[in-house]
Amino acid sequence: KNKVTVQIFRKMKEKGQKISMLTAYDYTMAKLVDQAGIDAILVGDSAGNVMAGYETTLSVTLDEIIYHAKSVKRAVKNALIVVDMPFGTCSGDPKDSLHNAIRIMRETGAEALKIEGGEELLPDIRKIIAAGIPVMGHLGLMPQSVHQYGGFGLRAKSEMEAQKLKNDAALLEEAGCFAVTLEKVPAALAEEIALSLRIPVIGIGAGSQVDGQVLVVHDMLGLNQEFLPKFVRKYAELGDTVKKAVNDYILDVKNSDFPSVSESYENPTKEVV
Ligand code: KIV
Ligand code: NA
Repeated sequence: KNKVTVQIFRKMKEKGQKISMLTAYDYTMAKLVDQAGIDAILVGDSAGNVMAGYETTLSVTLDEIIYHAKSVKRAVKNALIVVDMPFGTCSGDPKDSLHNAIRIMRETGAEALKIEGGEELLPDIRKIIAAGIPVMGHLGLMPQSVHQYGGFGLRAKSEMEAQKLKNDAALLEEAGCFAVTLEKVPAALAEEIALSLRIPVIGIGAGSQVDGQVLVVHDMLGLNQEFLPKFVRKYAELGDTVKKAVNDYILDVKNSDFPSVSESYENPTKEVV
């Protein structure tokens, strides 16, 4: 498997090949996900939820996302690395947004950024793209704007909202975004948008008729046991596995069954490891 680039992203859509994407926020997980053959890794601001325990992604800072992205970058050989611009770091002041985008690119070695927002953020997005930085758009449920909607419910249910979403998606393509994420929107609408764009549409809770899928890795591995919207498929129950392993360890320690003789250094003259 070769290094995935934004050009390959576009080619995969042309060839009708689906794009696989997962989040990762740390070196160890990113290495596993990359070695398993994922096309792209998102250093998402969902780190605020699953790594830091914040209620929303609004608390994530530029320095925090840079720390996560640097950790991921050290692990990854093949996957395209996309980093979320955190809340408030790309919010309608293009000069400031470019400054923040450059900091992420320069300090992390990531290959692309993801930005939540449509028409309102076009000046910022254009400026960042003009600086040579690939941008993935993010429409539909935009968790950084949660307080504007008052919840994390399905988006684009009304005809007016659906129309704005289609318009925003077209504008993002026109501005030069290399892909767009669609979160939690009706499947038929997501399909229509995927068909109307040349750039890939990566869905999360957007049905199967888009060009690729993204999930939060802690959700699909069953590590995040408190969060299970219907669009998450659990491919493992690592949460249960961790609890069972920790419980076994506790029992072994309490019963002096760990460590064994072979796990101890009994003969200092012979032992090497
Ligand atoms: O931060 C994140 O994990 C995301 C995905 C859910 C698309 O933005
Ligand atoms: Na995000």
